[in-house]
Amino acid sequence: MEGPRPPHPSHARAVPRDEAGGSQHKQRASLSPQPRRRAPRLAAGRARALGLPTRGTTNANRLRRVDRWLLATQVPRLRDPVRPLVVDLGYGASAVTTLELVERLGPEVPGLEVVGLEIDPARVAAVAADRDPPRVDFRVGGFELAGLRPVLVRAFNVLRQYDEESAARAWDTMRAGLAPGGLIVEGTCDEWGRRSAWVALDADGPLTLTLSARVSDIDTPSDLAERLPKALIHHNVPGQPVHEFLRAFDAAWASAAGFSTFGPRQRWVAAVEALAAQDWPLVGSSRRWRHGEVTVRWSAVAPV
Ligand SMILES: C[S@@+](CC[C@H](N)C(=O)[O-])C[C@H]1O[C@@H](n2cnc3c(N)ncnc32)[C@H](O)[C@@H]1O
Repeated sequence: MEGPRPPHPSHARAVPRDEAGGSQHKQRASLSPQPRRRAPRLAAGRARALGLPTRGTTNANRLRRVDRWLLATQVPRLRDPVRPLVVDLGYGASAVTTLELVERLGPEVPGLEVVGLEIDPARVAAVAADRDPPRVDFRVGGFELAGLRPVLVRAFNVLRQYDEESAARAWDTMRAGLAPGGLIVEGTCDEWGRRSAWVALDADGPLTLTLSARVSDIDTPSDLAERLPKALIHHNVPGQPVHEFLRAFDAAWASAAGFSTFGPRQRWVAAVEALAAQDWPLVGSSRRWRHGEVTVRWSAVAPV
């Protein structure tokens, strides 16, 4: 199903087709130097989507963790603008996770519009039957966001397939395309959505890192390191803040072993409480911790 494709008419200079696990797993999609204009616009009739087609792996319910976080924390942001437009960037080989996003946010956000963007035109053609604009639509587009000005961008399991420099430029390009007050949620998860991590960014830059897990599925919190977003994964080494954070989390987890009697989620909550007591700048309601989630301020984990 996923044989090699010709280079897309984009800023491509290399087209590795493999997510982690394939024979080309050391290669990463790379974009040529950033275009001069900060917010590239699409020429009329000549759409130029920024990015490269990569593997389209997806699964029903895979993105439930980030969607629950969006529901719990971002509904006021979505209700604020006149046009609550959401972009799901890189929805993959089927429309399933985009449709789930509509189902989850729709009841809470009057007038919600979700547009799934794919760099691969064949994947847009394949989901034509799922189009129901303006509620949900699918178009060809890349990091330039197809000229849309969304208040929220969910980009999941997309940037990990790029090299770190290209991923950083992709952040900049997407940030420039946001509506005022907009947010990008960029992250990664495993195939079944049990281990997940994401960064939230606004027009000024990254704000937070969230880790979220089915706690019964992990041995230690640092198991989530394998799901860190591109901006952090290569920095999980001694001396870097994200490594210190995961080390502190593992130590707190070990100290909270006694809470296992009450279940793994109670142990997670106790460990996160210990992190808060150590002055790690945790963000948001402690109620989220019961869901196997924790959000920390970006400044505490940003690479140095
Ligand atoms: C692994 S799938 C992720 C699917 C879904 N978001 C998920 O998490 O299950 C990655 C998809 O992102 C698409 N993609 C890669 N770069 C892109 C870009 N710059 N803009 C839009 N889509 C992109 C690929 O073509 C692929 O279909």
